[in-house]
Parts: sequence; C-alpha cells; structure tokens
Amino acid sequence: MPPPRPSRIPSVTAIHPSILSADFANLAGELRRIPSADAVHVDVMDNHFVPNLTLGLPVVKAIRAATDLPLDIHLMIDDADRWAPGYAEAGCESVTFHAEAAARPRQLARTLRSHDAHAAMALKPATALDPYLDVLSELDMLLIMTVEPGFGGQAFMEEMLAKIAQARRAVDDLGGSVAVQVDGGISRDTILRAAEAGADTFVAGSAVFGSEDPDRAVAQLRQLAG
Ligand code: DX5
Ligand code: ZN
Repeated sequence: MPPPRPSRIPSVTAIHPSILSADFANLAGELRRIPSADAVHVDVMDNHFVPNLTLGLPVVKAIRAATDLPLDIHLMIDDADRWAPGYAEAGCESVTFHAEAAARPRQLARTLRSHDAHAAMALKPATALDPYLDVLSELDMLLIMTVEPGFGGQAFMEEMLAKIAQARRAVDDLGGSVAVQVDGGISRDTILRAAEAGADTFVAGSAVFGSEDPDRAVAQLRQLAG
C-alpha cells in the first residue's frame, strides 16, 4: 500500500530582508551585506495607498543592476493594474500588488506571469481572504500583512495568525504551490509563531538591517523558522 500522502507539501523557508530599514544612501553596499538572503524585498510606496513615500521604478531598475539576488517587489500603490507590469518587465523576479488596489487581480496576475515574473497578491490586516479565494490559482505567492502597511519597525499583529492559517489551508487545498508570505514585525521573537501558523516566506526589515551582522540575522531567522 502506498504511504499516506502528507497533509501538506513541505515548503522551503525563505527569508526576504526588506531594504526599507537599510541605508537608502548606500543601497548597493547594503545589498552586499545580505548575500544569503533568498530575495530582496523592496517596498514601493506612493503616499496615496499608504501614508509614506519610498521609491519607484527608476530606483528599482538601479537595484536590479546592482545585485544578482532575486527581487521581491511589494507595491503599496494605487492603480496596481496600470503600474505593476512595468516592474515585471524590468526583470524583477516577483511582483506583489495589493488586492485593495487592483481592479482586476486575476488578470493582473496573468499579465505579471506573462512577463516571466512571479505574481503575488497582498492583503492588508483588515482585508479578508474569502473574497479573493478565486484569485489564488493565478498566484505564486500570497502576502498576509502582519502590520498596517507603510512603515517598518511596527509590532507583529498576533491576530493575523488565524488568517495565516486560513491562507495555508487554502493554498494546501490547491496543491500547495503558492507561497504564504508574512510582512511586518517578523523577528526572532515572532517568526516561529508565523511559521507554525503556516507561513513559509518571511519579510524582515528592522530585524535584519537593524542588526550588526545582517547576514547572520538572516541565518538566525531561517533557523528559527525552519
Ligand atoms: C511595511 C513594509 C515592510 C517593512 C517591514 O509596510 O511592507 O516590508 O519593511 O519592516 P519590519 O520588518 O521592520 O516590520
Ligand atoms: Zn513590504
């Protein structure tokens, strides 16, 4: 008799340092401090979707040229349908749009994939997953925000653990090929709880770049989550 199928396909733990907590005047140097990162998380903010302004496509293109690490672009911008494809065309490996900012999320995900990027969708803390379950099959990654998007260094919202678990169940029901990412307040104190709830991909800004040795912080986080 064949062995019973595992309840979920084991996923690989991935640590994505967020450069929001890095030195913006020396991004190339900061990227060299995280050689073992699985990807670089780049937070694009437009001062409309969130009350903060960071960087846009020209800077992302410069980052693209400065590193061989995969780029995980987190778009916190309005009108994602219009702007997200440009980041895929620029050679970013993964592009995350917010569900709240996309008029046609399924179509946008398809467009991103047609440009050879991974397609990802993010949900703010107050946004339920249920209305978006039909988008999951078009995605490579689902981002459950564990803080209110806009700023680094905020406290992890414990009340998001149930949503992470719901995301994990929904992804497993589809065969497990969609990554479940968490972003906000991920640290040595919180990463295990997020992992146990079902996350496999972890964004960490202050926990990595606030550390004396960012690459060691990446390794520690990976070990704690794994
Ligand atoms: C916040 C950003 C995060 C931020 C996380 O809106 O999306 O990526 O950099 O920062 P920490 O890890 O410090 O909470
Ligand atoms: Zn982010």
